[in-house]
Amino acid sequence: MGFKAIYGTRDLLPEQAIRWQQLEEKVRQIMTLYNYQEIRTPIFEATELFARSIGEETDIVSKEMYTFTDQGKRSLTLRPEATASVVRAYLEHNLGKISPFVKLYYIGPMFRQERPQKGRYRQFHQYGAEALGSLDPLVDVEMIQLSVKILEDIGLEHFTLHLNSIGCDKCRPAHRQLFINFVRGREEEICSDCRVRLDRNPLRILDCKNEECIQVLKDAPMMKDYLCPECREHFDMVKKSLEGLNTKYVEEGGLVRGLDYYTKTVYELKSPLLGAQDTLCGGGRYDLLVEELGGEKTPAIGFSAGIERILLVLESKKKTAPADKRIDYFIAAMGNEAQEVAFRLLDHLRSKNKICEMDYLNRSLKSQMKEANRQRAKAVLIIGEEEIKKQKATRRNMHTGDEDEYDISEFM
Ligand code: HAM
Repeated sequence: MGFKAIYGTRDLLPEQAIRWQQLEEKVRQIMTLYNYQEIRTPIFEATELFARSIGEETDIVSKEMYTFTDQGKRSLTLRPEATASVVRAYLEHNLGKISPFVKLYYIGPMFRQERPQKGRYRQFHQYGAEALGSLDPLVDVEMIQLSVKILEDIGLEHFTLHLNSIGCDKCRPAHRQLFINFVRGREEEICSDCRVRLDRNPLRILDCKNEECIQVLKDAPMMKDYLCPECREHFDMVKKSLEGLNTKYVEEGGLVRGLDYYTKTVYELKSPLLGAQDTLCGGGRYDLLVEELGGEKTPAIGFSAGIERILLVLESKKKTAPADKRIDYFIAAMGNEAQEVAFRLLDHLRSKNKICEMDYLNRSLKSQMKEANRQRAKAVLIIGEEEIKKQKATRRNMHTGDEDEYDISEFM
């Protein structure tokens, strides 16, 4: 009985890791194009940071966090998401004082103790961006465009943008009360989970996949009809500029997010190819969070995307680029002297930026050639007794089979 990776976590073997590298490279490229700068924050933070940001009553905080006590008796938590950490770092390093508008991005692992299934893991990875300091609806649109552009450039086609506004602390409370009253009158008709949500986090009922609940909520009061003039104008501007860029969206009054810090614009990018876990990317405004964490009033917006889910879609469409890991030279050396020469030659070729490899297992020429093939070597340099005598290796082009001589006198 050996050890296994923990339930909900996965190893990325080299073939997959290459696809991850390609995706991460694209993300960095486009983030840079949109002038976002990378930030790297720790994997764990004070538990309180997440509880305050994401909200005590959310699923994430109430049941999914990996929380532990360290030797100093501090309660720490593996980050379930990165926005809270980014805002903490923004405040800790006074980034808002250096520039009134700050654009940051990140890529890295997140941890949530959810029930694992296709597209849902306990350690998963996100890339994401946060723009802090501006209330301009054009920043919302830039953020949406950025998340769309990355998916498009990676090669994803069939995804849809779902958009909503969930208002602000001025207009939200009145709608919330109306919503609660509406559902209270129909409590018998909703599922038991939703009855619990009604007390703890009522708007999450809008997220329930249960058919009866969906029916009940058809006529529920929707936030978009209760927005204050400021939120209404903001939302209209966002939609108008999206249309100006020909970006298609679906307005979805029932779109609520699983984290409590959102205000005004919220959005998700969904793929029909993913089944239950169909959200590739989610985000929105969080104009109150910086203040909530002790800073000055600073409007902000951001998004995060799930890398595993994106790769699942790409794989289902066979859209991932072939993993090309061809090496330039495989050196097949036979005998001690030849091996020593090969080793010096290897060092020389690497100094010339050639990707190369030799045999360390004393294999026969035949098996070394097989190995060179397996590693998809472009060429093999053969060094046997004959070659040592002539001080010339035999170079075989593995594409054409052509052979010529390669001078090795300087390595003898
Ligand atoms: P989120 O909706 O919780 O938002 O997560 C964003 C994305 O992360 C999801 O759409 C999904 O693709 C991926 N994801 C979430 N949980 C899992 C999981 N257990 N397994 C695999 N993938 C998962 C946030 O995290 C916010 N921080 C987004 C944001 C940034 N809002 C403002 N700024």
